[in-house]
Amino acid sequence: MPDFNQKNRKILWTVIEEDKALSHLDPQHFLTKWERDYWSRLYVEKRSREWLLGRFAAKSVICSLLDFDTEKDCLERLCINRREDGSPVPLWDGDVLDNVCISISHRSGAAAAAASRGTGLGIDLESIEPRSNLFKEQFLTRREQELVSSNILDIGKESQSVMANLIWCAKESVLKALRLGLTVDTRKIECLPCTDLYTGPPLGNGPSLGWRSIEVNIDPRLGDRHARAWWTKWANRIACIAVLSKGNHQLLRLKL
Ligand SMILES: CC(C)(COP(=O)(O)OP(=O)(O)OC[C@H]1O[C@@H](n2cnc3c(N)ncnc32)[C@H](O)[C@@H]1OP(=O)(O)O)[C@@H](O)C(=O)NCCC(=O)NCCS
Repeated sequence: MPDFNQKNRKILWTVIEEDKALSHLDPQHFLTKWERDYWSRLYVEKRSREWLLGRFAAKSVICSLLDFDTEKDCLERLCINRREDGSPVPLWDGDVLDNVCISISHRSGAAAAAASRGTGLGIDLESIEPRSNLFKEQFLTRREQELVSSNILDIGKESQSVMANLIWCAKESVLKALRLGLTVDTRKIECLPCTDLYTGPPLGNGPSLGWRSIEVNIDPRLGDRHARAWWTKWANRIACIAVLSKGNHQLLRLKL
C-alpha cells in the first residue's frame, strides 16, 4: 500500500488534447465500475468525451504523484468520484484518499487536472474569447476591470480579452479550491494577475511562457481563507492553478 500521508509541496498537473488522446483511451481499461456506470449515463457526446478525458488526466496525475508502480492496476483501483457539490474526490479501493486533492477542468477539446497532497487546490482551463462589458461588470471587481482596461499585457489587440479571460480563469480555479464553484458572487474573489515573471523558487515550466503569480484576495465573508494562484498561457489557452495555502509550491507538469 503506498504511503498516502506523506506531505510535500509538489503540485502535479497535466493537460491533454482530445484529438491526441481519445482514440487510445479504452474506458474498460482505466475506469472502475462506478465510473463506467456514471460515464454510460452521460448522453451528451461532448460531455461524455470531456468527462473521460478529465478522468484520465486526473488518474494520471494522482498515479504519478503517489509513485504508483503499475499504472494500469492503479488506474483501475483508483476511482475519481464526485462529492454532492460536484467536486472530484479520489478513492482507493473504495476508501477516500483524505490527504490527496484533485481538481479537473475541460475546455474546447482539452482536459487538465492537478493534484497535490494535503493542499486544497483548483485548476481551470479557458480559451481566449471576447468578453462583453456586461460580463466584466457583472463578474469582475472594480480593480479587475481596471486591470483589463489597462492593456498592461502589451500584446496588442488581444490584450484585453486575454486579461479578462485570465482573471475569470483565476477566479474559477480559486472557487474550485474552495469547493464553492459558481455558487457565490465571483466578485468575492479578487484575482490580480502579475504580469512580471515569477521570481520565487522554481515552479516548473508551463507550456510556453512559464508560470506567473496572481494576487488573490478573498472576501472575509467567505471565512478566513487564503489562496495563492499562478497562470500560464499558450496558443489560445490559459490555465490557472490555485492552492489554499500561503507556502511555496513546486508546479510540475506531467507530460502524457
Ligand atoms: C465548478 C464550476 C465553476 C466549473 O465550471 P466550468 O468552468 O464550466 O467547468 P470546468 O470544466 O472547468 O470544471 C468542471 C469540473 O469542476 C469540478 N467541480 C464541479 N463542481 C465543483 C466544486 N463545487 N468545487 C470544485 N470543483 C468542482 C468537477 O471535477 C468538474 O468536472 P467533472 O464533472 O467532469 O468531474 C461549475 O461547475 C460550478 O459552479 N459548479 C458548482 C455549482 C453546481 O452546479 N454544482 C453541481 C451540483 S450537482
